[in-house]
Order: sequence, then structure tokens, then C-alpha cells
Amino acid sequence: MYLGIDLGTTAVKAIVVDEKQKIMGEVTTEVTNVDRQPPISEQEPSTWIAAVESSLDTLRSKDPRLLAGIKSIGLSGHMHGAVLLDRNSDVLRPCIMWDDGRSALECKKLEDAADFRGIAGNLVMAGFTAPKLRWIHKHEPSIFEKTRKILLPKDYLRLWMTGEFVSEMSDASGTLWMDIRNRDWSDKLLSACYLNRSHVPALEEGTAATGQLHKAHCRRWGIPQGAIVAGGAGDNAAAACGMGIVGKSSLISLGTSGVVFAPTKRFLPCPEQGVHAFCHAVPDLWHQMGVILSAASCLKWLSQLACRTPASLLDLLPCAPAEPSKVLFNPCLTGSRTPYNDPTMRGTLAGLTANTDLPDVLQAVLEGVAFALNDCFQSLKTAGTDIQEAFAVGGGSQSETWLKIIANATGANLLLAEKGEYGAAFGAARLAIVAHTNCDASEVMSSPPVKSEIVPDRDKLQSYKDAYCRFKEHCRSERASK
Ligand code: XUL
Repeated sequence: MYLGIDLGTTAVKAIVVDEKQKIMGEVTTEVTNVDRQPPISEQEPSTWIAAVESSLDTLRSKDPRLLAGIKSIGLSGHMHGAVLLDRNSDVLRPCIMWDDGRSALECKKLEDAADFRGIAGNLVMAGFTAPKLRWIHKHEPSIFEKTRKILLPKDYLRLWMTGEFVSEMSDASGTLWMDIRNRDWSDKLLSACYLNRSHVPALEEGTAATGQLHKAHCRRWGIPQGAIVAGGAGDNAAAACGMGIVGKSSLISLGTSGVVFAPTKRFLPCPEQGVHAFCHAVPDLWHQMGVILSAASCLKWLSQLACRTPASLLDLLPCAPAEPSKVLFNPCLTGSRTPYNDPTMRGTLAGLTANTDLPDVLQAVLEGVAFALNDCFQSLKTAGTDIQEAFAVGGGSQSETWLKIIANATGANLLLAEKGEYGAAFGAARLAIVAHTNCDASEVMSSPPVKSEIVPDRDKLQSYKDAYCRFKEHCRSERASK
């Protein structure tokens, strides 16, 4: 048996699979104390451990044989967060999360201080780890002074599980302290943040064994002594491993954030388009991503305003709206990464009239997210990756209406997998299998069978193109007026 654990922004998901990758058990546990007051987003790492403990308790109480068979464990987690540890490995302050936007000024300073675009191949963005450390250096100097190690969220779980300070390539890419082409830390980029290699963990591939589960944990949950913990991956690379997006194909993820993910055989940076060019979780592969910070969270936002559940809100729309809404929605509720790299950008609704009703606004919200994803498609196209077809995953992909709108806005075919669990926790379990068996990743990481395909509606492509132009114009004038 293999265990995959995904540390999500709002919940931990743990999955047990057998040798044939059949799901034998799964549990989702909410993470408590999520503090999100844009531009600030912080979480206490102790709440992650509590959620993992509770997940393991639940798995054990469901069937003790599940954990008794575990040979190795894979980890996945939200990227870019900074967990700062003192000399005793105690946490110095809450983790500054991936969607925290307070370090805009520090981003500019870092771009001047070192060649981030050349060495890391990415723009310095407020969500990434590097500017967070410059922010701490300026605003919390005594914390900076005490900082001995900086860990990414899932790597903090690894420390708790194994006592080892290790990260892996895909997640570490998002710190922006890496020479991503050469899969190593960069002394120059670390020193731009007043840091050196002693502050960061050892680097391994996601498929490597990074340590053994502490004996005390083995005893507590009945896991065999010697169970190993694999490198794992940042959540998007892990989800890609789960869906078999390793050497080919691509992925759209409609979670809290929205991601367009494409694996690349070479490192293909394109910082000027706000493309994230990172290592993949398997050796000798990289990937490109376009990222929008608010995707399914926009639907959640509207459903809270309307005092309805997202599902009952979606029932207000026909399965395929006849034409794009006259209302425009810019989904930058917590800032923009691809393509604008502007953490201060905010969401807008425009074109409201006295007759605008809730379904109009809902359609505009779904379309705004679709157009922002099309921005990501266009940026990746400029970066050399033209996506014609992509698997759709994440909570938002359960809405066929939303997927039809995205297909019309991007012109791409969207694939839906057969019912099953192929997300980041499953991808982490697959990485655990590779770490334990030493097999080739491609043997383990096939794509799931396709259940259905959502194709763009030819009759509507032009009207969606026109609406996308209006959306772009609206975003441009919003930025110009700031
Ligand atoms: C990717 C990113 C998000 C987080 C949260 O760059 O910031 O996808 O990993 O899921």
C-alpha cells in the first residue's frame, strides 16, 4: 500500500492505494484557522499537522490494515509558502501563503538585485517565496535574524514526519531561489534575499526517497517501521502526476486558484508573459503554468453574497448560455499573476444596468474566470506551447456549464476523466510508488480513461472572441486608471 497526502489551502486529503493503484481508503480533513484578509494570507503550520494527524486517525479507525500495509508515503502541498524555523526547528511566525500579496515592493527590489529572469527564468511575483523573505527582512528583522531554515509547507510536514530537511524540484522552483534549468539552488538568488544554502533544505527529485517515517509515528498509526517518504511535488505538479500529465497533454485546474499546466521536455521560460516555468516532479522534465489566483473562489464569493450554495447558484443558468453576458467580471479578487503580475489588482464588475439580475452576474463571473484562463492560454502560446486539448480537474470542473464557457473562451477541447480520484494526493501516492519500486515514472503515471469531451461551439466562437476583447480592454483600462 502507498499513502499520498495533499496539504491543500483549506483541507488535507489523504489517499491509500494498493500496488495496482486501486484506491483503498481516502479522507479529507479541513484545515482550521485559515486567515485570509487580502493582501494578507497566513496559516499556522501546527494546524496542518493537526489535520494530517486527524486524517491518519480516521484512516486507521476505518480499517487498521490500510496503514499496516504502507510501504511509502508521498507528499504534495500548496506552493510558495514560507515556514520560518529557528535553531531548534521551532516555527517563528505563521506561514505566509501562496496568495499573500504584501510583498509587491520587494519584488521590484529583487528584480534589481539579481538576474531572477535569467537564472530562475521567472518574474519575481509577490506570491513566490523569495520576496516574502525580503519583506520579513524589512518588516520583522528580529524574526529574520532568528531564521535558520525556510521550508515550503509540505516540506515542513516532511520534517515532522522524518526529521529531514529536504525539498524537491517542483515545489522548490516556486521559491525563486533555484537555477531551474540546472535543478540546483542559486547562490546569487539566495544572496539577493540575504540568505545562503544553509537556510534552505537539501534538494531531491520528487521520485526519490527522502527519509523514513519516525518510529514514534509508525507505532502511533500502525505503519510498518522503515516506511519511506518520497520527495513528492508542489500541488500542481502532483495533480499532473495524478492525471498522467508527465511527458504530454495538459491540464486546466479550477480550484481555489486556476491553473493551466503543460509539461515541457526542456526548460522553456517566458517571464515577460508571467508564465511560471518550473521543474516537474519527475527527473529531466519541466513544466509551464499560467496561474490566476481566484478561480473557483470567485464562484464561492458570489454564492456567499447570494446566500446560496455554489451548486444551487449554478442551477440558475442554462447548460450552455446562448451568448456571452453583457456584464464584465475581472476575477482578480486577490491580485494577478499571469499575465499582469500585479498583486494590487482587484476584481471588478462592469456594465451593470437596472435590469441586471443574479444569473447575468453569475454568467459574467464564470466568463471572467474563463477569459482569465484564456489569458494563460495566450501566454503559454507565446512561450511555445499551443494547447488544443486539456484535462479539466478541480472542484469547478464539476460544472458542465462552466466547462462549456471555458471551451468557447479558449477554443480548446476539454477532457473529463472517468469518475475517480486522480488529484494531487493520488499523484503524491504515485510518486511514493516510484520512490519505493524504483520503476520508471512513465510506467506508473498513465492518464485516466476519458469519460466525455467538451468541445467549443463553433457558432459561438466569434461572439466569445469579441467578449474576450472587451474583457482585455476592460482590464487594460482598469490598470491604466490605477
Ligand atoms: C501555483 C500556486 C497555487 C498554489 C495553491 O503557483 O500558487 O496553485 O500552489 O494551490
